Amino acid sequence: MTGVVIVGTQWGDEGKGKATDQLGERVDYVVRYSGGNNAGHTVVVGDEKYALHLLPSGVLNKNCTPVIGNGVVVDLGVLFEEIDGLAARGVSIDHLLISANAHIITAYHQVIDRVTERFLGKRKIGTTGRGVGPAYADKVNRMGIRIQDIFDESILRQKVAAALEQKNALLVKVYNRPAISANEVTDQLLGYAERVRPMMTDTAAVLNDALDDGKVVLFEGAQAHHLDVDFGTYPYVTSSSPIAAGACTGSGVGPTRIDRIIGIAKAYTTRVGEGPFPGELLDEVGERLRQAGGEFGTTTGRPRRCGWFDALVVRQAARINALTDVFLTKLDVLTGWDKIPVIVGYDINGRRHDAMPMTQTELHHATPIYEYLDGWTEDISAARSFDDLPATTQTYVRRLEEMVGVRISGIGVGPGREQTIVVHDLL
Ligand code: GDP
Ligand code: IMO
Ligand code: MG
Repeated sequence: MTGVVIVGTQWGDEGKGKATDQLGERVDYVVRYSGGNNAGHTVVVGDEKYALHLLPSGVLNKNCTPVIGNGVVVDLGVLFEEIDGLAARGVSIDHLLISANAHIITAYHQVIDRVTERFLGKRKIGTTGRGVGPAYADKVNRMGIRIQDIFDESILRQKVAAALEQKNALLVKVYNRPAISANEVTDQLLGYAERVRPMMTDTAAVLNDALDDGKVVLFEGAQAHHLDVDFGTYPYVTSSSPIAAGACTGSGVGPTRIDRIIGIAKAYTTRVGEGPFPGELLDEVGERLRQAGGEFGTTTGRPRRCGWFDALVVRQAARINALTDVFLTKLDVLTGWDKIPVIVGYDINGRRHDAMPMTQTELHHATPIYEYLDGWTEDISAARSFDDLPATTQTYVRRLEEMVGVRISGIGVGPGREQTIVVHDLL
């Protein structure tokens, strides 16, 4: 049996989509286990670029069955738009499986996401505005709507009406917004039922059977460790558990079925939305990284905040996710710097910290302590083996490996499928 988890080690957009696609040919099932269409996973195949939000990146590999697990929140409108968009480009998604237990993002979740952010003003989270947080809040609050509910009209009408009774009071009385019609929301959801029917299944059973049969199941994380609702920079996080442990609760397989956990780490750091980011470069250096890396959001187009590699950030992710391997991405973006700084500690109120501090207040007061590594000027985008890399690039990778404490098994040297160096087999 081979259960493999891919998880982001920073604040998202590390290149999880590319890494997932890269492994695709040897994978039987690719499962999204958390998040929703707040994710934006880019896969580049030849001249074609695909931006996937809700569908697992495995959809681009014909022999691989894509699965949306119970831990995902599904906007059905977005799902079918994405499926139709890919179909128009010749990619067929006729074998997608969706968990009957996955929760649905409805129109009112999107409205609430946006008005809540507006209401927070300067204290906003900087969400993607897709309704993800409010849908998870309803799930935990036991007033969510699940995929299976759209097949029982009378139950669905009752559930939507009950949810809207509360939401409308909030929308009208607190936020001064028009009420949302329960009948309209229900009718819209019922309208999707026939298309969803052949996809809906007990995905936990399918995945456990697949693992019993020795199939390879890849769990494709969305978001990242530092956006996790428990371990991230709360409250500036997403509302789910993107960490590796979330692959179990979000898909219905037990922890002993996971054999490999691959952390995806960008060779520098980025973050979108609000929240602490000790290494953020607000000067022209940050701008140069943003331009070199094309750091603009796949989902919202927002410019990503940029900084150098932060060893404390990735080391914490390595530990809590029990990483077995690291896939280092976008190394090519660092070409052309004389010296490349790496964060090796934080100064917090005059005291050195070698690990991320326990409290958010401390993190807000952290000033990075850098180590300066030698850069390189050679174009590395055509390198296909570790030995093809210049000596200083090799030293940079080895030093990062030492700092993180986990072996670097894959290295990205460009967005293309083939622009990868495999140091140790990932499957
Ligand atoms: P994800 O959310 O983790 O899947 O990452 P995104 O797709 O949001 O952002 C990663 C971006 O970097 C995408 O535009 C990828 O095509 C690109 N990318 C991934 N790996 C590499 C790499 O090794 N080098 C370069 N230059 N770009 C990469
Ligand atoms: P991928 O999978 C980067 C961020 C948002 C915001 C916070 C909460 O492409 O790496 P949400 O809409 O989830 O309630 O927003 O989380 N965020 C991401 N940042 N990459 C993502 O996904 C993200 N998904 C959510 O910017 O700060
Ligand atoms: Mg992304």
